Amino acid sequence: MHLWKSLSLATLSSGLPALAQQVHNLGGDGWTVSSKALNISVPGHLPSQVHLDLLAAGKIAKSSWLVFNGLDTFTTIEFCGQHIGTTDNQFRQYTFDISQALSSCKGEPVLSIDFGSAPKIADAIADDPSSEKWPYGPQQVYEYTNRWYIRKEQSDFGWDWGPAFAPAGPWRDAYLVQFDREESVYILNTDLDIHRKGQINHITPDQSAPWVVNASIDFIGTLPSRPSMTIDIKDVESGECLKQGTLENISVSGKAISGSIVVDANAPKLWWPNGLGKQNLYYATVTVHDGQKEELACVTKRTGFRTIFLNRNNITEAQLAQGIAPGANWHFEVNGQEFYAKGSNLIPPDAFWPRVTEARMQRLFGAVVAGRQNMLRVWASGAYLPDFMYDLADENGVLLWSEFQFSDAMYPVAKPFLENVAAEVEYNVRRVNHHPSLALWAGGNEIESLELPLTQEADPDHYSYYVGQYEELFISLILPIVYDNSRSISYMPSSTNNGFLWVNMSAPVPMAERYNNITAGSYYGDTDYYNYDSSVAFDFDGYPVGRFANEFGFHSMPSLQTWQQAVPPDMLHFNSSTVMLRNHHYPSGDLSTHNFKNSSMGMGEMTMAVERYYPIPNKENSVANFSAWCHATQLFQADMYKSEIQFYRRGSGMPNRQLGSLYWQLEDIWQAPTWAGIEYDGRWKVLHYMARDIYQPVIVSPFWNHSTGALSVYVTSDLWETATGSVSLKWLDLSGKPLAGNAGIPETKRFTVGGLNTTQIVATNIADLSIPDKKNAVLVMSVTAQGHLPNAENNSPSTFTHQNFLTPTWPKDLTLEDPKIELSHDAQTGTFTVEAKNAVSLYTWLDYPAGVVGYFEDNSFTLVPGEKRTLKFTVQTDETNGKWMHDVTVTSLWDQTTR
Ligand SMILES: *[C@@H]1O[C@H](CO)[C@@H](O)[C@H](O)[C@H]1NC(C)=O
Ligand SMILES: *[C@@H]1O[C@H](CO)[C@@H](O)[C@H](O)[C@H]1NC(C)=O
Ligand SMILES: *[C@@H]1O[C@H](CO)[C@@H](O)[C@H](O)[C@H]1NC(C)=O
Ligand SMILES: *[C@@H]1O[C@H](CO)[C@@H](O)[C@H](O)[C@H]1NC(C)=O
Ligand SMILES: *[C@@H]1O[C@H](CO)[C@@H](O)[C@H](O)[C@H]1NC(C)=O
Ligand SMILES: *[C@@H]1O[C@H](CO)[C@@H](O)[C@H](O)[C@H]1NC(C)=O
Ligand SMILES: *[C@@H]1O[C@H](CO)[C@@H](O)[C@H](O)[C@H]1NC(C)=O
Ligand SMILES: *[C@@H]1O[C@H](CO)[C@@H](O)[C@H](O)[C@H]1NC(C)=O
Repeated sequence: MHLWKSLSLATLSSGLPALAQQVHNLGGDGWTVSSKALNISVPGHLPSQVHLDLLAAGKIAKSSWLVFNGLDTFTTIEFCGQHIGTTDNQFRQYTFDISQALSSCKGEPVLSIDFGSAPKIADAIADDPSSEKWPYGPQQVYEYTNRWYIRKEQSDFGWDWGPAFAPAGPWRDAYLVQFDREESVYILNTDLDIHRKGQINHITPDQSAPWVVNASIDFIGTLPSRPSMTIDIKDVESGECLKQGTLENISVSGKAISGSIVVDANAPKLWWPNGLGKQNLYYATVTVHDGQKEELACVTKRTGFRTIFLNRNNITEAQLAQGIAPGANWHFEVNGQEFYAKGSNLIPPDAFWPRVTEARMQRLFGAVVAGRQNMLRVWASGAYLPDFMYDLADENGVLLWSEFQFSDAMYPVAKPFLENVAAEVEYNVRRVNHHPSLALWAGGNEIESLELPLTQEADPDHYSYYVGQYEELFISLILPIVYDNSRSISYMPSSTNNGFLWVNMSAPVPMAERYNNITAGSYYGDTDYYNYDSSVAFDFDGYPVGRFANEFGFHSMPSLQTWQQAVPPDMLHFNSSTVMLRNHHYPSGDLSTHNFKNSSMGMGEMTMAVERYYPIPNKENSVANFSAWCHATQLFQADMYKSEIQFYRRGSGMPNRQLGSLYWQLEDIWQAPTWAGIEYDGRWKVLHYMARDIYQPVIVSPFWNHSTGALSVYVTSDLWETATGSVSLKWLDLSGKPLAGNAGIPETKRFTVGGLNTTQIVATNIADLSIPDKKNAVLVMSVTAQGHLPNAENNSPSTFTHQNFLTPTWPKDLTLEDPKIELSHDAQTGTFTVEAKNAVSLYTWLDYPAGVVGYFEDNSFTLVPGEKRTLKFTVQTDETNGKWMHDVTVTSLWDQTTR
């Protein structure tokens, strides 16, 4: 290394003054450090050392960091043989400075990550006498115990729809970051918070206020003393610039730099959920500059402008005047508009997250949109979703009610646990806040509505102590972290609750939950409902009446094709040991593979439900019989959910003003009997088709009380404006012939139905109708309505149709006739046409072979003789080279009765 500086001759030789000596300060700039061997030449300084000059010139690295975006879960990390750190939270981002270790590295730098056994560590923590214990013991129902002591995907330890692998490993990406100059930053995480000016999370946003875009960047590295930030917001579709400029109010706190800018109230095109308008998106590019405006770091996030608000305000006088019962609201509003939330609950799509690819999730979101769903609840004992899933949700208009990963347990409140949770919550709130699909944060699931009551039952004397624990974690700790990092998203401590009485950010417990401090005849919250006694499955009088239904369901078997992916041929029996071991309802309680007691209860529930209502499969071929049984459990499941969903939707026009239905559960984690509507590889069960049908904007629904015979028919609409139209009501016998005099009811009824409302069009009693044989009758109802889709282009009207049917006796008791369905395939258009040639076809079911995944335009529908239906099939994956289309079959309820 060579250091040199040329000194000015003029200085050295100019007129020697009368002094004995001359002193020149050689310090400062003007020096050059160079090396022929390295072919470098950079500015030098005096005093200095070459490393510092090379560093300043960016020729050598100053510091090196490891960045892990997900380690599952307990690790000890070494680099160059030196201890670097440990981790104990699957959901946090970790960074480690390895500069020292690298500079003193002897030999090849080796990074080693040692993973501990999560089940063993959880048990060891539980055994520690200083660990918190709870009086409610039966929590230990899954394969591995004590999950609540550790911050790892809780369902990895077992759940009633999935396996228990308790995996370990670096489940998300990781980086080595090296800085080669002093003032340099690496962006770890970006929080983009777009809200209406003055917005406060739990207060109705003012839609006339301008937007504030607040960008806050977490980084490692060093900022100059006076950094600045700029932003450039562009319309994704047109490329047009919405806003460009310098952010104001720059602040640097800890390792984050923030700034914000105002955007005119009406300038952005709004983002809307699926079915309610367009999903307008923007790219926001945020750049951090040093004082000289040199670019230090830059990040682009795709985002959108919308407000999404969980309204828990008290019912107003104006609402009372509309016929809404007193109490509080509990519904979502997007851009100031009430809407009906239609959707389901999302569980982890795989037992191993690295297998959850973008292509698979594209198919899943495709099915969600095709299923007319606008909201999913990202359930609280899986994992925070990766960004690409929020991206898909943004594009598809699927709101994601997101939960912190705590559920169905009490959790510790020891200081280290709380600190660990605080870092987890802060990271994830900031990471996903820019996604317009993010709808809500909930602290956890079924803790307030289920765990606290169970704890109270087990230890009534110390109940307030446990409520205190709950509030310490889910309100005092988490709520302020959410509010500090997002003004745009509502927060509630746990899913299924009765809202809050007040919020006071200065109070030690800033949100006062209403709990069960309620008045009869008033409604306050959302509901969660399961009843495995299938004898009451269709008794809508027993369904919960609330403001919103966030989970409900019953399990069913997947299809034969899906079973064949996982089960050997000799196990294709309803109660084979492999099927039973994959059925975790009810959970076996441990890791044994010989305990079938709990599983048989669940298998029994499905069997009884089929036997009670549907023809009992009895086919000679045992595989065909297994397949028919699987299908029968799906028919029951779909009918039960349909019964509940139409009841909840009708509630939009009832005093409880019900504005949401999210059934349990969207998809499967493996091939097993579960509550899913979509099987592991993407095949739709009857449920997903049924939900797609009953989630149409305008529906006609029968409400038959099978004990009293009372029958009413309602038209329900979730459009925002009044719709008008007519319903055709046709009583037929099962051969398709009209019943005389239409059994005594009018054949057509005209109606007007308000936005988000319902209207009754028939009220009668089956006993008062002239139906000669109840076993040989069906009421076919078809609605046609004119109305406006929310935010329709040019505000042009649309026509909505929906068909429904009712038999005045359970399907098993019907005197079915063979409908003789003809199926034809048009290779040109790729469509399938079905026609019932002989009799009414109930639950008409088109099925496709293994090797292809996709969905028909409609399925499990009623077909009356003379009516032809032509249906498209959307292919999502095809490994058969198109051959699948020759193996499409059609069956109906009739085929469930044949041998
Ligand atoms: C030395 O560096 C200069 C400038 O970076 C470059 O143009 C030149 O090709 C290099 N010479 C050698 C021998 O690598
Ligand atoms: C910056 O802060 C000032 C003072 O608090 C405030 O009036 C202004 O609205 C802020 N600007 C933005 C873009 O938030
Ligand atoms: C809402 O009603 C409750 C009674 O249920 C009352 O305690 C509370 O103060 C009311 N909140 C507001 C903001 O009026
Ligand atoms: C639903 O419609 C009925 C009948 O028109 C009306 O009285 C009621 O106020 C409406 N409900 C709401 C919440 O608008
Ligand atoms: C911007 O958001 C950050 C948190 O991400 C917050 O600390 C800061 O106060 C916000 N700035 C403004 C002007 O609201
Ligand atoms: C909010 O809480 C603080 C601290 O407990 C209290 O002093 C204040 O009176 C409360 N504010 C209201 C409006 O109740
Ligand atoms: C119940 O609610 C009332 C107001 O509705 C409130 O005054 C009271 O403090 C609440 N009780 C509890 C135990 O939260
Ligand atoms: C499966 O096993 C359960 C429990 O023993 C039993 O109740 C049920 O009838 C069986 N189901 C079938 C279809 O055989």
